Amino acid sequence: MIFCYLLFFFSDWANLAKHLLDSVVKRLALPSDYLQFSCVCKSWCSVAKDNKSQRSKMITPMLLISANKKHTWHFYRVMDNKILDLQISVPNKRYCGFSKGWLITLENNFVVALINPFFRVKGKPKKENSIIRLPPLTCKDLTPRRILHWSRRSENYGVKAMISADPVLNASDCVVVIIYEELKQMAFIRLSKDTTWTYIDQSVDPRWLLIEEVTYFRGRFYAVDYWRRLLSFDITAQSNSDVKLVAQSIEGKKFDKKYIVNSNEKELLMVQRYYIHGGSSVTIGFKVLEFKFDKSEWVEKNDLGDVALFLGDNTSISVVTSSLSGCQSNSIYFCHDHNENDFGRRYCDCGVYDVKSQTITHYDIPLLKMTDRPAIWVVPSFHL
Ligand SMILES: *[C@@H]1O[C@H](CO)[C@@H](O)[C@H](O)[C@H]1NC(C)=O
Ligand SMILES: *[C@@H]1O[C@H](CO)[C@@H](O)[C@H](O)[C@H]1NC(C)=O
Ligand SMILES: *[C@@H]1O[C@H](CO)[C@@H](O)[C@H](O)[C@H]1NC(C)=O
Repeated sequence: MIFCYLLFFFSDWANLAKHLLDSVVKRLALPSDYLQFSCVCKSWCSVAKDNKSQRSKMITPMLLISANKKHTWHFYRVMDNKILDLQISVPNKRYCGFSKGWLITLENNFVVALINPFFRVKGKPKKENSIIRLPPLTCKDLTPRRILHWSRRSENYGVKAMISADPVLNASDCVVVIIYEELKQMAFIRLSKDTTWTYIDQSVDPRWLLIEEVTYFRGRFYAVDYWRRLLSFDITAQSNSDVKLVAQSIEGKKFDKKYIVNSNEKELLMVQRYYIHGGSSVTIGFKVLEFKFDKSEWVEKNDLGDVALFLGDNTSISVVTSSLSGCQSNSIYFCHDHNENDFGRRYCDCGVYDVKSQTITHYDIPLLKMTDRPAIWVVPSFHL
């Protein structure tokens, strides 16, 4: 298969010529090609083509749960409480994001890597998953001692990351944004244009740090910082000076965690999560805010309509529920997130919040009690 063969080259970023990328993208113009390209196995392909109900299940987000065995992960569908008959093999390590079908992680020496858990490179000895390696982040503000410290823990250097478009299907629109290190500054790279990262950091403008969330919405990136200020920049940004402060910080009741979500290109949402704290934290509620661009302010939203959100530290996904089977509309599906007040090593705080009735249903997922990593929401990015 030519597509799989081409993917081979992706593992070597330095040698990846632009014309090669272009030719991949051109070849993948048809959805059917893309599907073939992104399939894990034949059975997924054939059900996807022929069977509507199966198809809708495949495009419903699932939990990716580490099996505690080297490199092995399970797919778990919360709607029908089912472990899929499919295991994947990606390193058992920390991922700082899942976006557009790709897991994002930092490898040794600050190399940022995108790994697609849904397809594998055929012909490689260990059926390796396809991987795209980006240039390393440089640590310009760090002392040699700190660099040494982080280089041993590279996977923790990336706090959070996302991509704007599929790096294979849509390489020319693909920008990778990463929030990194303790100061939580941002950097981004345009997949088909740049050979180095552009840094949006406090060395030029002391305001841009402690960024907590970032998303891509209607052609621009939006980030929220610790103080809930909203910042924005677009793909043409050259430096900090191209970053705009879109809205000042907002006051309000204390919450425990926040997420920013592109809700199907219609709305930009900020979701706040509330816990009760004990030995290990338990989610008790959410609050949804919508950004009103005309007034430049956040407004509380009590109805998501035909939409469900899938939220976690590593993923913010929004889906239209009418096209999916078993997925509850007007809901927030959540998974266990890192929490400073957690003492246990259990990652079981997963469930669904009904926005209208403001009620929570927690899931009892035995697999989560056996793992040493929190689960992560994933969904294949193929377009059927
Ligand atoms: C779709 O798949 C389901 C489950 O495998 C099966 O029960 C159903 O008959 C299939 N429908 C069609 C139209 O093939
Ligand atoms: C997701 O991100 C959180 C917070 O950065 C991290 O603690 C967790 O290990 C990540 N999950 C996975 C599966 O890598
Ligand atoms: C490529 O990305 C752009 C911008 O995100 C989007 O408008 C377009 O639909 C994408 N194309 C495909 C084939 O996914």
